[in-house]
Amino acid sequence: MPIHPEAQERNERLRGHNPVVAEALSALGRRSFFPKGIPYQAGQAKGTRINATIGQITDGAGNPLPLAPLAEKLSHLNPKDAFLYSPIQGRDSARKAWHQKLLKEDARMAQVGLGVVSAGICHALTMGAELFFEQGDTLVLPDLYWDNYEQIFQVRLEGDFRTFPFYNAQGGFNLEGLRQVLAAAKGKVHLLLNFPSNPNGYSPTPTEMKAIADVIVEAAQSRTVIAFCDDAYHGLVFDPKATTKSLFFELIGRSPNLIPLKCDGVTKELSFFGGRVGFLTFGVDPESAAILVDKCMGLIRSGIGSPVALSQYLMEVELADPRHEAEFEKMRQVLQARYDVLRAALDRPTRHWTVFPFNAGCFCLLKLRDGLHADDVRQKLIADESVGVVSQGDQYLRLAFCSIEAASVEPLVASLEKVCEGM
Ligand SMILES: Cc1ncc(COP(=O)(O)O)c(C=O)c1O
Repeated sequence: MPIHPEAQERNERLRGHNPVVAEALSALGRRSFFPKGIPYQAGQAKGTRINATIGQITDGAGNPLPLAPLAEKLSHLNPKDAFLYSPIQGRDSARKAWHQKLLKEDARMAQVGLGVVSAGICHALTMGAELFFEQGDTLVLPDLYWDNYEQIFQVRLEGDFRTFPFYNAQGGFNLEGLRQVLAAAKGKVHLLLNFPSNPNGYSPTPTEMKAIADVIVEAAQSRTVIAFCDDAYHGLVFDPKATTKSLFFELIGRSPNLIPLKCDGVTKELSFFGGRVGFLTFGVDPESAAILVDKCMGLIRSGIGSPVALSQYLMEVELADPRHEAEFEKMRQVLQARYDVLRAALDRPTRHWTVFPFNAGCFCLLKLRDGLHADDVRQKLIADESVGVVSQGDQYLRLAFCSIEAASVEPLVASLEKVCEGM
């Protein structure tokens, strides 16, 4: 497949700034570029006297012509924010607001360029993977992981997984397992870590987090490591011993062979699930990051077209509001109360399951005793108890305490006990 001269130009520029990143690109990553097509030309013509570039229906002065029922619902907003296209890379104001938020969380973000807006966090993961992950590549990740990674890296991109047990014997993060599996993977290696984790609700301690970063840096001594940090549940931490910080910050500027990718967004953090605003941020030098953003713009243009403008605007409003941090804390407290009740309920001894250590996120994960099949238990819970949980594999049940009120926690655990007892 020939590479377009524009993509070639990006690749050469990238090679000049950062040969490791240039070398790490997948075939699609090498081919990708943002063309000098309609959105590009419309961007250049912004502010012209007569702008006959983009296929947006306007009054000729750049204002949309919305239909009344829609306009009435959104009458408090500037129609331009509500109805017009977003730039392909996302609104400048949205990208800056998110970067500012991350900078407040950690000063090391000052070394990192603006992220590109995605249509939710899953899309940020997919874009990062499309840039770097090739058919036949291997993804290293813990054995407890969000099931959708299989759709991205296996079904879509035809890769393999190499997993290691998530926990060590003490119930902490299995650092040695991570070290060993990274050491065993030869050549360029992709790693995905998700904290707080889905499905098992674990956030490492600050010491563990630093040690995880050190293991990754060590693995990058002799070859390229692409580290996907899935921060979907950032900030939802319920045990003071667990860190609220992203692993991504610990990886910035640590090794020329290390390419950290941060995938995050408004979905859980801003409790804005349908908003579909995510970010993909590249933890490399800002010049290279800008080229990678350009490549993402090609992927966005050919995939979703452009990101949702309205929800980016709403995100900006939320982040700029002086109540934002207190509002987040209020939401976190609601989950904290559910977490506390669930902890107490699950601390009671039972012969039917064991609970994986959990301290954060939206879920906990139970391992059912031998003889119980997770999906049979799940289906019986629906049929007999009108209770819904998720089964994973043959032996695991995931309880989403984020979506039940505290008063339902005890009845949920009691129903589970009853169903298991009867099976
Ligand atoms: C670990 C993890 N990453 C990413 C996502 C996807 O987030 P989004 O809905 O923004 O695509 C989820 C959603 O459940 C998740 O659990």
